[in-house]
Formats: sequence, C-alpha cells, structure tokens
Amino acid sequence: MKALLCTAYGSPQMLSVQEVPSPKAGPGQVVIDVKASALNFPDALMVQGLYQVKPPLPFSPGAEVAGLIKEVGEGVQGLKAGDRVMGFPGTGGFAEECVVAAEKIMPLPENMDFASGAALVLTYGTSLHALQDCGRLQPGETLLVLGAAGGVGAAAVEIGKAMGARVIAAASSEEKLALCRRLGADETIDYATEDLRKRALALTGEKGVDVVYDPVGGGYTEAALRAVAWRGRLLIVGFAAGEIPKIPLNLALLKERQLIGVYWGDSVRHDPRGHVRNMQQLLAWFAERKIAPVVSEQLPLARAHEAIQRLLDRKVKGKIVILPES
Ligand SMILES: NC(=O)c1ccc[n+]([C@@H]2O[C@H](COP(=O)([O-])OP(=O)(O)OC[C@H]3O[C@@H](n4cnc5c(N)ncnc54)[C@H](OP(=O)(O)O)[C@@H]3O)[C@@H](O)[C@H]2O)c1
Repeated sequence: MKALLCTAYGSPQMLSVQEVPSPKAGPGQVVIDVKASALNFPDALMVQGLYQVKPPLPFSPGAEVAGLIKEVGEGVQGLKAGDRVMGFPGTGGFAEECVVAAEKIMPLPENMDFASGAALVLTYGTSLHALQDCGRLQPGETLLVLGAAGGVGAAAVEIGKAMGARVIAAASSEEKLALCRRLGADETIDYATEDLRKRALALTGEKGVDVVYDPVGGGYTEAALRAVAWRGRLLIVGFAAGEIPKIPLNLALLKERQLIGVYWGDSVRHDPRGHVRNMQQLLAWFAERKIAPVVSEQLPLARAHEAIQRLLDRKVKGKIVILPES
C-alpha cells in the first residue's frame, strides 16, 4: 500500500509517497481502508519534530480518518470488515490503510461523507471539549474565536453558535472573515489591520468577552486577554503563530479571569465516556445541520506535502482533506 512517509524530521518537502507493507491489526485494533484523512496543524509540527509527541522514524502523519474497516484484531467486539467508520489514529492516516485502536473509532453515519467524517473527530472534538468542558460556555455569552477560519477555529465558530453564544470571529483577511460570517459569526475582527483588544471591547460595549478560544498564541493572546470580561475565561488551545506567549498574571488577577489549558488527546484518555458523549452531541448537531465541516480542498496523497506547507504558510481556510486512494 502507499503511504506518505516522514523518514527524517524537517520541512514538508522532505516527505515522500512510498510503497510499504500493509499494517496488521493487533489485539484491540482494527485496520481501516482509508477513504479520507484530514490535515491538522499538529501534523505540520510533527513532521518537523516540533510537536509534543515525536513518533519514532519513519512514520506517516495523519491524525483523523474515515473509511471502511478492512480487518479486525483479536478481542474487538461490535465491529466487522466493511463497516463505515471515522477515527483518531494520531499518526498513520496519510496512507491507504492505517491501524487504529478500536476505542478510537466510531460508526460513520449514513448521512455523512468520508471527507466530513475525517474532519470531525479531532477538529470538532477539540473545539467542543474546549468550549463545553473547559470553558463552560453558556447561552447568551460572548465568545471571541481567534484564527476563526482555520480548522479548529471554524469548528469553534459553528459550535459556539450551536451552544447559543454570540460569536465574534477574528482572522487575518477579509476572505477568511467572509467564511466565518457564512458559518454564523455575528461579528468579525480583521486582526491584521484592526486593534484586536479595542475592537473586541467596542463590540461588547466595553464589558469584554466572556470566553476566548485561542489556537493562535503569539501577540494575539495578551490582546485578547485584555478584552476578557469579569470572570471570563481564555482557552489555551494552541500556538499556530509559532510563539508561546508569556502573560503578565496581573491580567488574570484584575478581573478574576481564568486561563484554561485544553488538551483534547489527553482528555479522551482521561474521560473516554465524556468523549463519547461529545461525539454523540456533534453527530446530533450534524444531523440538525447546525455544524458541517468546512472541507475547502480534497487532494491526493502525492500532494499532501504541499497541503502541509500551505497550512504552515497560513493559506488554508477550513480543512484540507487527503484522499489516499486518488
Ligand atoms: N489543544 C488541543 O487539544 C489541540 C487540538 C487540535 C489542534 N490544536 C492546535 O490548534 C492550533 C490550530 O490547529 P489547526 O489544525 O486548526 O490549524 P490551522 O487550520 O492552520 O489554523 C490555525 C490558524 O492560526 C492562524 N495563524 C496565525 N499565525 C499563524 C502562523 N504563523 N502560521 C500558521 N497559522 C497562523 C491562521 O489564521 P489567521 O491567518 O486568520 O491568523 C490559521 O488559520 C495548532 O496550534 C494546533 O496544534 C490543539
């Protein structure tokens, strides 16, 4: 089978598609015939050796997939060859076949195509966990989403609306903000040209926002925190800007603001039942058309390295999905 291989940590251009042996399902695992695999920023960090998880070389990136079960390992119950599923292998998804632990997959509903399924588990799972479990976002509260046209950002805009919040989307271009408005954002801020703090305060009558969803970091984090209301929460999701911000903690003390870390992958391990509940919620919202992954491009495996580079160059809107068999 074909797989995108990372044989040495470095730039995406060093990745290559190679013929490798098909994986085998060990106890408690299944092999998926991958129909679609969504690209995430951690893939881009992982191939450069910059992510908190450093898989042993060689490896294939690709954390979330959808496809058909090809083989079921010993002890796996309730799953069989041919089932439509989506899942979270963590790595290995940019390949024609990949191995996933059985507890990390779930049925792909009839009404969902493979590309949408691939873009749901990690991306929407992260944003729902952040807003609901970590941020305790309430109906009627104001949510400010940074990087709001990116993968987890666009998901946070949709989920914020589904949870009944007023959503302010912040991104770096008018084109990206237009996408956010299509997803339901009530207000937008172009933080490449506008003062993020001043605009967020102006849009809330100087009260400030209740929750900030921050997958970007860099200089935006402090500006956003300064626009958080009394007892508001800032959710630390990621640092796509490349810089981990260092924040003066008096900003937390002054308005009893909370800084809350979000780590979806570990939350699934710590609270597997909560993860299942969240996935059921996401599938219900999908069926009610309250959420729908924004798949902006579908590319063959041979172009996955280009897609990773464009993610690093800040040129992607929504999700790029890789189709390993095309
Ligand atoms: N904590 C968790 O459990 C968890 C789970 C999944 C992902 N994450 C993290 O969340 C972040 C976003 O992931 P994603 O897959 O949604 O990525 P993405 O689709 O690339 O979105 C990231 C957004 O960050 C903004 N950005 C600002 N400066 C950037 C720069 N120098 N390079 C690239 N993007 C920049 C871009 O929006 P603008 O151009 O509009 O600024 C971009 O749309 C990553 O740091 C990832 O590691 C965390």
